[in-house]
Amino acid sequence: MSGRISALVLTSLVVVGCGDPAGSAGETGSSGTTGGGETGAPTSGGEASGSGDSGGGEDELQGSCVYVNPFSMGEECREYRGGGWSEADQAADCAAQMGTASAGACEYPATLGACVLPGEADAYLRLVFPGDDPSQCQLTQAGCELFAKGTFTPSPVCEDPNPPADPNAGVFEWPTLECVAPLQGEPAGMSEGGQVCTWSMIGGCTEEGRRFADYSSCEPVLTQRPYAAVPPYPPPAEPDTRLQDDPDYAAEQAWVTKQVESCGCVCCHQASLTPSGAGVWDIEAEGNWINTFSPYGLAFAAGLLDSSPLGAYPAAENNGFDRMTTGLPTTDIARMQAFFVAELKHRGIDTAQYADDPPTPKIFYDQEIYEPGACAAGQGVAADGTIEWTGGPARYVYVLAGDAGNPGVPPNRDLPAGTLWRLDVPSDGAAQASGSVRYGVAGKGLGQGFPQQGEAPAPLVAGDTYYLYVLADIGVPITRCLFTAK
Ligand code: HEC
Repeated sequence: MSGRISALVLTSLVVVGCGDPAGSAGETGSSGTTGGGETGAPTSGGEASGSGDSGGGEDELQGSCVYVNPFSMGEECREYRGGGWSEADQAADCAAQMGTASAGACEYPATLGACVLPGEADAYLRLVFPGDDPSQCQLTQAGCELFAKGTFTPSPVCEDPNPPADPNAGVFEWPTLECVAPLQGEPAGMSEGGQVCTWSMIGGCTEEGRRFADYSSCEPVLTQRPYAAVPPYPPPAEPDTRLQDDPDYAAEQAWVTKQVESCGCVCCHQASLTPSGAGVWDIEAEGNWINTFSPYGLAFAAGLLDSSPLGAYPAAENNGFDRMTTGLPTTDIARMQAFFVAELKHRGIDTAQYADDPPTPKIFYDQEIYEPGACAAGQGVAADGTIEWTGGPARYVYVLAGDAGNPGVPPNRDLPAGTLWRLDVPSDGAAQASGSVRYGVAGKGLGQGFPQQGEAPAPLVAGDTYYLYVLADIGVPITRCLFTAK
């Protein structure tokens, strides 16, 4: 049934998402097991309380779900409308958002507007965006219309033309390799001169046995994907006494904790290091923190789900930590897999159910398999090399061979074979307007991601087809189309 649910919706704008439960939940039906608990769904076919616009027919309100949108990092609410929504469907969808379900409509003192998503007449979603900050209107509307292909109805807050969101705020900061002397009392590092070198990146890890927080900084990491404090998965019904009763288990759990401590994941998954709380799983949670993972999180960690669209360093460049197989970076792939597979079994979950799940997170996988069409008016490269695009100011402008794949995220997916040229706006620079960039020319203060700075790209051949790929920021494409060189 999930085909009709555009589950990702605004989270399509996510910059670098790691947990996209929607990616695996709906599809398998397995998500019933994740049931975030208290669904409070209406008992009958929708004598739902609340909004005046129910009242039979297709608009019938069945229930709603409040959750955190990882892109806006704010609260959002979705209404399940139409009699085609079963309670189980609603519960599964809400659990996939890590939300809290209720029977009523989405009601707020002030909203930016609502977005009705394409769906079936008897089962569709209406999203409601709480808030009274007009600077959020433009992005909210764009998210609804461009990414979710929905219909946006502005509230009074958003009815007037509004100042556009600042395209230079909160932008992706590129990782740097930070090399420092080891902490006092720690052994010499593995790099030149006994230094310890660590990438300041989500999936960057310092040397095994050391802590990421001692050797790198969370500041850039927090720009590399949306951060929000999201409550943990609900605790098990029966108290978990394995840490007390089972020394072997306790030793493995402690090893997993140490592995996490070496990596950038701590910036959002170790509460004391985060701005305002962990995102679902928290290695500082009381009791056995492994229980803060949802089943999706366990399957992701075990590598039962393919999370390659998130990008990863080769282990040799990441102090031996691999993230190509398991979701959590590790120096011992088999040991990490075994721990999390056993954890799923402990929860009574059949690991076979993940076999056919598509790669996650969905938003990046969708970007990976995107098939571009021909450029429209206002998009393309003119004879003098001037590049035009639509969708607003850009931080990355790619020109690729016509048959190249889609660019993904750094560190290993951002320069697909066939990349001819990429313009980079540094994170402290201003996003560039359409028409202000020429092929092969990285102007003052701008960077060239390919080829190396100072080298000229291959000239475009008149009559040949090329792929123009323009991003507002990493993970946020605004123009993707094929053009013929003039
Ligand atoms: C900048 C913040 C940030 C960093 C760094 C980060 N995450 Fe997350 N992660 C989140 C947030 C927020 C959520 C919850 C919302 C969501 O699922 O998108 C989350 C959720 C997850 C989930 C889903 C959890 C569940 O049980 O459903 C997994 C798995 C995950 N992260 C893995 C990782 C791994 C592995 C790393 C390190 C390689 C990492 N994350 C680094 C912010 C972050």
